[in-house]
Amino acid sequence: MNIIVVGPPGAGKGTQSARVARILGLPHVAAGDLLRAVRAQDTPLGYTARQYMDAGQLVPDDLTIRIIEQRLAQPDAKDGVILDGFPRTVSQARALDASFARPNGASKGDEIGLYLKASREVVLERMKGRWICQQCGRVYHILHVAPTEAGQCDVCGAPLFQRSDEAPEIQARRYEVYEQDTLPMVDYYRQRGILVEINGEQDVENVTRDILAAIDARKAALIALELRVMAKRLQTAADQ
Ligand code: AP5
Repeated sequence: MNIIVVGPPGAGKGTQSARVARILGLPHVAAGDLLRAVRAQDTPLGYTARQYMDAGQLVPDDLTIRIIEQRLAQPDAKDGVILDGFPRTVSQARALDASFARPNGASKGDEIGLYLKASREVVLERMKGRWICQQCGRVYHILHVAPTEAGQCDVCGAPLFQRSDEAPEIQARRYEVYEQDTLPMVDYYRQRGILVEINGEQDVENVTRDILAAIDARKAALIALELRVMAKRLQTAADQ
């Protein structure tokens, strides 16, 4: 199953995607991490990514779609992935649909979109307090998900850092971009009937619980649909 995690910046997409990936044994494909790797390169693509990311803008669709498609073509993605932060525009969603639909695409029509809902106030407060391990990437929050030792990762002991796009004016810009470009994409998934809204303002464990319940419900619905199709085929064969 392909699990698509969307929501405002700072809603907890990365935190939840990492937890659910560990529980379900699926690869966690984070658009922001893939683009930060491109941004770090001293190449024309790296320069382009830097310009947009440092301004809190979305990286152009053609570059982002190409990078995600390359990642989805890796063998470990063939049985499904957790997509964190992609798509973020309607054209990215359409490109993803087309990519899944290809003969060797990762999808069998079994996607689910999880929309982590959280208010502007909540997400700005969460981004302000976020610290990340520079070695293993584990995400902390100074109040809600605090490391045992201040400034040090619980998992690998490496120092924690804050992202370069965390200046308050860039955070506010990223939220505006979400409202302008990403909310129409959320509607696109809602209309396709594959979107489940999750209350992202609960604590981390309760958000994970609701996500796992939504995935179980989608799997059960897909199995029921498959059984109905099989029963219809059998009935048709019996009638002939
Ligand atoms: P990206 O890295 O994806 O940033 P984002 O979407 O803005 O999301 P964040 O990583 O800021 O937040 P999150 O929702 O993952 O929350 P987190 O789990 O960290 O993208 C960065 C940039 O890359 C974009 O601005 C854009 O330029 C570019 N980009 C990325 N994708 C793109 C695309 N598809 N197209 C074009 N450009 C793209 O949690 C936040 C904090 O809250 C943490 O401190 C965490 O510990 C804490 N927290 C998490 N959950 C909870 C909870 N339930 N309760 C309390 N605290 C919590």
